[in-house]
Amino acid sequence: MAKRIRKAVIPVAGLGTRFLPATKAVPKEMLTVVDRPVVQYAVEEAFEAGVEHVIFVTGRGKVLIEDHFDYQYELDATLRERGKTEMADLVEAQTPAAGAVSFTRQQKPLGLGHAVWCARDLVGDEPFAVLLPDMVMDGEPGCLKQMMDAYDEIGGNIIAVQETTPELAHKYGIVATGQAHGRAFEITDMVEKPAPGTAPSNLYINGRYILQPRIMELLATQSTGAGGEIQLTDAMLTMMETDPFFGVSFAGRTFDCGSKAGFLEANIMLALKNPDTRDDVLEMLKAVDL
Ligand code: G1P
Repeated sequence: MAKRIRKAVIPVAGLGTRFLPATKAVPKEMLTVVDRPVVQYAVEEAFEAGVEHVIFVTGRGKVLIEDHFDYQYELDATLRERGKTEMADLVEAQTPAAGAVSFTRQQKPLGLGHAVWCARDLVGDEPFAVLLPDMVMDGEPGCLKQMMDAYDEIGGNIIAVQETTPELAHKYGIVATGQAHGRAFEITDMVEKPAPGTAPSNLYINGRYILQPRIMELLATQSTGAGGEIQLTDAMLTMMETDPFFGVSFAGRTFDCGSKAGFLEANIMLALKNPDTRDDVLEMLKAVDL
């Protein structure tokens, strides 16, 4: 039986230059989608999938993320004093249990592969998940849970993929696929940020991974790739030569909150799903005079 996934790595060291000036003092992961920061969606997705411990790879200027996932004594006491018990309970329920989160820092922006490698000692010798928080997912169950269900059957390494268009392929890692294995399929190739016209398919890596610990050894010596950065995709490509590697097609919707349009789309679409905001937002949208 496949060894259980207990830990998830969430890289949050990125500078967020695309969102300046909003991200001058506030980490991009703390920008709000409807009623919670972007990063909280990934954390909720991880815990929903059965993860017990979340490891954040942070950087300078990201302390707000640590505070967000901490218990806020004064806030809790004030809410309860004022009879806002429901809100206090909600905030408390969304706070990870004591000891269930760790933080380490990526000291230099050397790439996603390097960020994941920074978590090696905290991950230890066991398979783990990676969730890129820029990608906010809407699915039931969540994307990582869908992957876990496949992992329980086939083990190995699993990445979630979805369809993109040829015009957008250069922004992502793109995979080529082989034989089907139940709800998953074999991955036969991966290219990080393919030049226009060279993508091996229209399936892109959407930012959710289940990886065996050997990836850390490969990342330790991984040379730089696309964009001059140490790429997780390149290390996975090496691992694919010897280890089983599968893809799972995420049944749900992904919002790329690393771009302004994707971030706004997430806000609108998720506000339309949220009973607190749905009717008002729908009215507002209907009233937009295009
Ligand atoms: C990373 C990965 C890429 C993946 C993407 C999803 O790229 O390297 O393979 O498709 O996330 O968001 P980044 O967005 O960090 O450039």
